[in-house]
Order: sequence, then structure tokens, then C-alpha cells
Amino acid sequence: MASTTRLPAILQAVMKGQPQALRDDHYPAWHLAPVTGLLNDPNGFIHFQGRYHLFYQWNPLGCEHKYKCWGHWSSADLVQWRHEPIALMPDEEYDRNGCYSGSAVDNQGKLTLCYTGNVKFDDGGRTAWQCLAVQNAEGGFDKRGPVVPLPGGYTGHVRDPKVWRHEHHWYMVLGAQDLELQGKVLLLRSENLWNWQSLGEIAGSGLNGIGDAGYMWECPDLFALGGKTFLLCCPQGVEREEKRFLNAHPSAYLSGEFDYARASFQHGPLNEIDAGFEFYAPQTTLTADGRRLLVGWMGVPDGEEMHQPTTAYGWIHQMTCVRELSEQNGKLYQQPVRELQALRGEEERYQGNAAAAPALNAQRLELELELESAGDVTLNFADTLLVEWRRDALRLARRSLQTGEWLYRYWQGDAHKLQILCDSSSVEIFINEGEGVMSSRYFPTQPAQLTFSGSAELRARYWSLRPCMVE
Ligand code: FRU
Repeated sequence: MASTTRLPAILQAVMKGQPQALRDDHYPAWHLAPVTGLLNDPNGFIHFQGRYHLFYQWNPLGCEHKYKCWGHWSSADLVQWRHEPIALMPDEEYDRNGCYSGSAVDNQGKLTLCYTGNVKFDDGGRTAWQCLAVQNAEGGFDKRGPVVPLPGGYTGHVRDPKVWRHEHHWYMVLGAQDLELQGKVLLLRSENLWNWQSLGEIAGSGLNGIGDAGYMWECPDLFALGGKTFLLCCPQGVEREEKRFLNAHPSAYLSGEFDYARASFQHGPLNEIDAGFEFYAPQTTLTADGRRLLVGWMGVPDGEEMHQPTTAYGWIHQMTCVRELSEQNGKLYQQPVRELQALRGEEERYQGNAAAAPALNAQRLELELELESAGDVTLNFADTLLVEWRRDALRLARRSLQTGEWLYRYWQGDAHKLQILCDSSSVEIFINEGEGVMSSRYFPTQPAQLTFSGSAELRARYWSLRPCMVE
């Protein structure tokens, strides 16, 4: 243990910061967000002994990407969450520059965290250790130190262990950068979580038929779903296309066949997981009844994040809602987890011309919209975010937080049905029962009004959502 602890400073930051964050009109009413400071990736998502646990990258001391701890929430029902003791702080030599992202497993009844200890050197170099921590009787975590050193052939960018059990072994995928500065995903295997054997690269830039695909792949997650295996990853450095991969860094998936015996993954091209302005570093887990759930960070590193106005209130970023995944024809579908329907108030309906639809309070709202005719519809969220919808295309418009110019994101294809979940400063648009998703933050003056215009006939069901703060 280091001789000093930052716990007093963290406690003070929380005591001072939480009342200030709650005064911000943009603070979410039913999404998970930091009580103060900066939140990024979801970590350690697991259903363990009857409760869901969700950890998160958290800098409690400020809105910068520094001093990464693991915060911790738990929930019995995925709707009402409670704060748990802070799980990890960067207070050892091997994690002194951050307890970076990772996952959680149930190791014979012990909730065990696998995370990256990030270490930076004065000369600009860095290294990374994959580490373990095991839950103690008080609900905190005892660090057990590094179990995987930096593998040969890679730079110091090797991180974000996602660990799972398959038959008689534990498996781990790791995001990595090789010495040619190509992003890769590594696979490792272990009998006991402590001793790991490398099985090589299973995907990455220049592998398995995909061309140049970036200099670093972060936050991999591999799982079987339907008849396929999916690999989620965040390939940094993928080239922007006209209407895809437009964020500073994308979050993508590969779909294919995984062979454990050969440690090989045959897959198709990179697909965007979410086409909105803010989505990154998703992580999945299984429910007791076998559903595959996903939660993502509703943010993107290195883009315009530091221009978000919430920093004036000492907090930044939130999670997406929890989503339920399914597979159709090799594609990944996402829908809001069914448990969230518990937030709905009374159902209201509208049928008629878009231009005559009533204005709605968008602050806590769920909408289901179907196009009943040709034509177009524009959903205007407080003149701050526009959803421009035609049968054959969807365009999301938001002004740059930095320059004020309009920026656009696209979903391409036939869009006949939308389900939209709104909170104080976010919208999540699910297209055609989950075939596509667009997640975005926006920063309206409250109360934010949603108004409709356009020539199409619409059918709508909508609900006001009840607030649901973390206890
Ligand atoms: C992704 C990421 C991870 C890293 C973590 C640090 O957003 O860069 O690769 O572990 O954030 O907070």
C-alpha cells in the first residue's frame, strides 16, 4: 500500500460535488451518471448472487481523464441502483496511473475483478499489467496484483481484459497495439485466473480479411448470441466514411464463427454498434435467464467531450440505458431492457399528421413512433437536436459544442419504426425494433420541448418516465 490515501480528498470531492451536480438541469433523472467528476467506460458488468453489479471508470477528483478509479453500483432489477463502496483506486506501483477498464467474474462464489493497471514513465513510455482484485466481507475489493505482464511484440497499450468461462477454462480478450502500431485483440486462457497462456491474436487491423483498421483496439468483448459469435471492440484510427464512423473514435462489432479449439475467429466486416454522437466502450453480461445485456458509455474520448456544459457543475458523462441484445441474420440488434418499462407512467396516444402532433415535455419521455404514410417527420428537441426522418433514411443533427456549426449522424436503410428514450440531456433512438441505434447527449434549456413537423402521417404511443435516482 502506498503510505498516503486519496480517500479524504475523494470524500470531500463527493460531499462538495454532489449537491452541485444535482442542481444542474442536465443531470440525468434515470440514467447512471457520476455523483461528481468524470465517468467513462462501464466495467465489471455482472449478475452475481441475485444482484447486478456495474462498475465504472471514475475520476472523482475532477472532469479530466486522470486518476481513474472503479466506482461501483448494484441493482436487483436494473432500474433502481444503489451506491456501493468505491472498488479500486490507483494506489499501487502497478496501477499508479489508473485502474483502467476490465470485467468481473464469479470465481467459485467470489466476485473477482480483472482490470488493467496502467503505468506511465517520465520519459513518455508506458506499460500495463492485467490485475486481479477479490471482494472482501465489507463489500470492498482486495487487490491481488498483476497476473499478466506486458506481452512481447506489443507497445504499452495492452488493456481492458474481458474474462469469461467456457467449459473448463477461463478466457480473456485484451485490446492491444502491436509494434507496427496496428490495433489487435489478443486471446488468453487460464485454469485458475492466476496463470495465463497466450493463444495469439484473434482479430485486428490487417487480420481475417479486414484491411487497415486502426492503431489501437480498446475494450474487446466476445460472446455467442443466436447462431453467431460477436466481438465488440473500439478500433481507434478507423477512417471516416461519408456516413459512418464519424465520431472521434467508433465502437464496432464483428460477427462470425469462433473456434475455441483453434483459437480462431472467422468474421465479416466492421459494423458500427451505434450511429449517434455519443457511444463508446460497451460491455455485456448474461442475466440469470440467459439474456445478453449491454451497457455503453454515452460519451466518446478525444472529441468535443470537454466542451459539454456540465463541467461547470463539476460532472461529466453518463451511461446509456441497459440494452438487451439479439441476433438476426448475423446482425446485432439492441433494444431497451424490458425491465425499464417499470419507469413508464400512463400511456398516451396520437394518430394523425406529424405537423399537428402535440408538443411534449422531452425531459423524461419514451416514445414509440410508426410512419403511416410517405413523407417526412422532423422531431425537434428544443432547437438543440433534430431527428430528420424519412422512410429510407434518418439523420440526426446537433450543433458542434465547440464551433456551433451543424453536425450530422446518419442511419442508412428503411426506418419504419422508432422507439426513443429521453432523459434530461440524452436521447437514445432505437430503429426498427433494434436494428439500429443512435445515442446522443444534448444540452437544452429546460423544460425541453419536443415538437413535430413534416408531411407524414404518424402513429405514436408515449409515456412520461418516472425519475429514478441512485440510492
Ligand atoms: C476506453 C479507455 C480504455 C481504458 C479506459 C481508461 O474509453 O481508454 O481503453 O481502459 O478508457 O479510462
